[in-house]
Amino acid sequence: MSENQPLFKRVAVIGLGLIGGSLASAIRRNGLADVVVGADKRADELALGQELGVIDEVAESVEAAVKGSDLVVLAVPVRATRAVLAEVKPWLEAGAVLTDVGSTKSSFVADVEAVFGALPPTVIPGHPIAGSEKSGIRAANPELFARHKVILTPADDAEPSALARLQRLWEGCGATVLTMSVAYHDEVLAATSHLPHLIAFSLVDTLAGEDENMDIFRYAAGGFRDFTRIAASDPVMWHDIFLSNRDAVLRVIDHFTHDLDQLRSAIAHQDSATLLRVFSRAKAAREHFSKMLSGQAYVTNNSEKQVTFRLQPGGAISGDIRVPGDKSMSHRSIMLGALADGITEVKGFLEGEDSLATLQAFRDMGVTIEGPDDGFVRIHGVGVNGLQAPRGPLYLGNSGTAMRLFAGLLAAQPFDSELTGDASLSKRPMGRVADPLRAMGAVIETADGGRPPMKIRGGQQLTGIHYEMPVASAQVKSCLLLAGLYAEGSTSVTEPAPTRDHTERMLAGFGYHVHRDGATASVTGGGQLQACNIDVPADISSAAFFLVAASIAPNSDLILRHVGMNPTRVGVINILRQMGANIEVLDEREIGGEPVADLRVRSAELTGIDIPEDQVPLAIDEFPVLFIAAACAKGRTVLRGAEELRVKESDRIQVMADGLAAIGVETTVTPDGIIIDGGQTMAGGTVNSHGDHRIAMAFAVASLRAAGDIEVTDCANVATSFPGFVELARGTGIQIEAEGAE
Ligand code: S3P
Repeated sequence: MSENQPLFKRVAVIGLGLIGGSLASAIRRNGLADVVVGADKRADELALGQELGVIDEVAESVEAAVKGSDLVVLAVPVRATRAVLAEVKPWLEAGAVLTDVGSTKSSFVADVEAVFGALPPTVIPGHPIAGSEKSGIRAANPELFARHKVILTPADDAEPSALARLQRLWEGCGATVLTMSVAYHDEVLAATSHLPHLIAFSLVDTLAGEDENMDIFRYAAGGFRDFTRIAASDPVMWHDIFLSNRDAVLRVIDHFTHDLDQLRSAIAHQDSATLLRVFSRAKAAREHFSKMLSGQAYVTNNSEKQVTFRLQPGGAISGDIRVPGDKSMSHRSIMLGALADGITEVKGFLEGEDSLATLQAFRDMGVTIEGPDDGFVRIHGVGVNGLQAPRGPLYLGNSGTAMRLFAGLLAAQPFDSELTGDASLSKRPMGRVADPLRAMGAVIETADGGRPPMKIRGGQQLTGIHYEMPVASAQVKSCLLLAGLYAEGSTSVTEPAPTRDHTERMLAGFGYHVHRDGATASVTGGGQLQACNIDVPADISSAAFFLVAASIAPNSDLILRHVGMNPTRVGVINILRQMGANIEVLDEREIGGEPVADLRVRSAELTGIDIPEDQVPLAIDEFPVLFIAAACAKGRTVLRGAEELRVKESDRIQVMADGLAAIGVETTVTPDGIIIDGGQTMAGGTVNSHGDHRIAMAFAVASLRAAGDIEVTDCANVATSFPGFVELARGTGIQIEAEGAE
């Protein structure tokens, strides 16, 4: 069929209420059929339909409407369906598509089966999720379905071309079409639409019957008013819906009544933990589920938004700033706090999408977590064995750390779990944790190539192993130590090179003994964790952007406060200093078992170096911005032994090389590193960050030495590790605007 030929020759719409009338006019308006005829028992509605231009032709009977039509749409009340179908059947043309717009689908299918004997392959039940408090043909609106969802529930043997044409018809009206089974549709609608309406009808009726009813309505505040709006829906229609979707509705009412009873008893017994747990989980639900549905990183309010950084060249860096909290420690503070006995308070928590994903996952497993509120979080620990089965998959957004550490923790739980993530995380290797966990006795399924989702079978008794890590990975080490808390005997991990040791330090802070013997860390299973308070320092990985910025921009002088200086994280300072950077470490102190300092950094002439391989794991996240430093340095910088960079949030070697090439800097990519000759002119240009937060921020820093404007695309994920980056960067002197951001 050509692009501008109508999809259907003749469409019969039977029943010209709000939905039927709106669909008829949308079909006409969008040229989706040659002719739209309407049939309705109410002659005046029918005449009005033609007068208002909703339909082309009036059909005097169902017979007249159906004959010669290649699409018949039933838009009659649910209780009238069977009788109307009996009138339709004798005249339905061979091959004609028959659909409906009713709110419950099993009852429609039952009616079709009663009338036709079986569900014909050209009958495709449908349900547009759109409506209005207004009813009748006068309210018909051709825009009613635009940007709304339409659910089709085709049977397995539905005629593919009938389904495709019906789908195109709805899309032509501006709707998004979803398909699902009849039973699933009715379950979903019972929960998302029918139950809320029932609650509204019931609540408003109960309160209207109270003695003070006048006052209740006079002083009705926002919440109650919303209920009265919903309760003002058409009583007859809802009566029909509840009766026709009886079984699914009863199931969800029972579930809800049970949960409501639990809340009642929590109030009666002053059980704050239950109240807080339920309320805080509910508060986060909207944001959480919209993230999961869009498959995006965790929290940016509008995930479909494309964020582009626009940077003007030049500038000097100055100021006195504190970058957000350390990402690695933020994840771990929630994890260990949740597993501890007692209440853990965290200060300086990173409110970035990655650590928020971890926080939400624990809420999903029944842990009460207050906050985050300006970096403050209070975790009501449930004890090592106190987690509850999550109701669905745990969605971890962009966070590799969360997924790998959770794998260890969940492998030993009594319940099954599934870990999922966004598009980038779904490409990252999980075999590195799944394999050793399996050796401990875990049962884990991954997708092809060891990728997420990870499906973890609960109820396995793990046994401690000794594991020699083939790659230097703190995530793998931490994963196994967390699994080791639950394993029989001792679990030990040897690392080929030192990696960040926050898990070991924090476990010790929670009173759990971690044995260290050279490159080997081990724990013995079966212990408990005691709640403690945690002060998360500023993230050195976020500070790194400013260390490089102030080094490469002339006339710069910047103070960075309260930066975490764990020796397993300071590779970036060691490397920059070796390149000639002027970084002073001030007021070194230890806070909560982690070294912290203020840093002063001033502009310096940098020189290219061979980056010592032992520094690679200690600066693993900082290479994107170190490549920018190398491009601004005198002479050649060579990086080797860094193949791990290829499996981070993006292939950071290739994506950085491509980005540098886009602004005129040629590099040589090697399998495990890169060679960068400094001193080439950085021109302006457009860089694709491939949704990798650290790539996006690295090129923002590059603008300080560029000759022209730089545009960096796909930057929304900066919020995973560095919320507020743009404002902070602008405050120090980077000339940055974020387009498409909140
Ligand atoms: C992290 C470890 C590193 C790092 C990541 C955070 C952690 O990954 O890249 O951003 O918190 O343990 P690997 O351990 O896989 O190198």
